[in-house]
Amino acid sequence: MPTVLITGSNRGLGLEFTRQYCQAGWQVLAACRNPAAAPELAALAAQFPALELHPLDVADFAAIDRLAKSLAGRPIDVLLNNAGVFGPRSVADQDPRQTFGAMDYEIWSEVLRVNLMAPMKMSEALIANVAASAQKKIVAISSVEGSIERSRGGIYAYRTSKAALNMLMRSLGRDLAVRGIVTASFCPGWIRTRMGGANAPLEAPPSIAGLRQVIDGLTPETSGRFWLWSGENLPW
Ligand SMILES: NC(=O)c1ccc[n+]([C@@H]2O[C@H](COP(=O)([O-])OP(=O)(O)OC[C@H]3O[C@@H](n4cnc5c(N)ncnc54)[C@H](OP(=O)(O)O)[C@@H]3O)[C@@H](O)[C@H]2O)c1
Repeated sequence: MPTVLITGSNRGLGLEFTRQYCQAGWQVLAACRNPAAAPELAALAAQFPALELHPLDVADFAAIDRLAKSLAGRPIDVLLNNAGVFGPRSVADQDPRQTFGAMDYEIWSEVLRVNLMAPMKMSEALIANVAASAQKKIVAISSVEGSIERSRGGIYAYRTSKAALNMLMRSLGRDLAVRGIVTASFCPGWIRTRMGGANAPLEAPPSIAGLRQVIDGLTPETSGRFWLWSGENLPW
């Protein structure tokens, strides 16, 4: 039975990943900030004995080390860095704090810590688990908003965090190839979650089904690429 570790598993895309991997018969290590306040996860855990819940705030790097210690010796086939934050919304909430002239640098630091540094810390802390697995994959949910070629300006904290996350996954793919590890970053599309909002055109299930297929098909030859959920490569 392959194993996936998913961050931010309590709602949105992380919850849908958790549900689908459980249904596919995987062992799922579902990490989230507060499992006690995650009723959907609890319901899944009651249905699927191979689902384990782990408390984890990915911004707390000591907590990541503690989680890694508790998982020592257990192979992780797919390390799925999903947890993410968007930051202030200039359009929906008229909040300008990630627009030019009004940047909030504390918020920018927090967004970078969660979206960019945490996936690096997770990778460093859990490298032995991934290397010991059959599939050896480290992946991250990025966004097309992090595509340099496609930038339309604005949302500086989120955009720069995802552009840098793409660089991180690409570079990890190069550095960890000697250990047989394959990396990828993904855009799930614009999805109806708390982050995506009510106007998003897509629901989570087809996007996550597509992403799982892309993850299944990753090979050393395709390591380090930036993929759309439907399986096309995206421009950097
Ligand atoms: N929805 C979209 O249209 C879309 C498009 C492109 C990319 N993405 C990316 O997809 C990923 C998932 O997004 P989503 O749409 O599912 O968003 P969401 O509904 O807002 O869920 C975000 C998840 O991240 C978790 N999270 C945030 N900060 C965390 C922290 N410090 N430690 C642990 N978990 C934390 C949240 O946990 P709490 O409940 O504890 O806050 C929640 O589980 C993100 O990386 C996002 O950038 C989404």
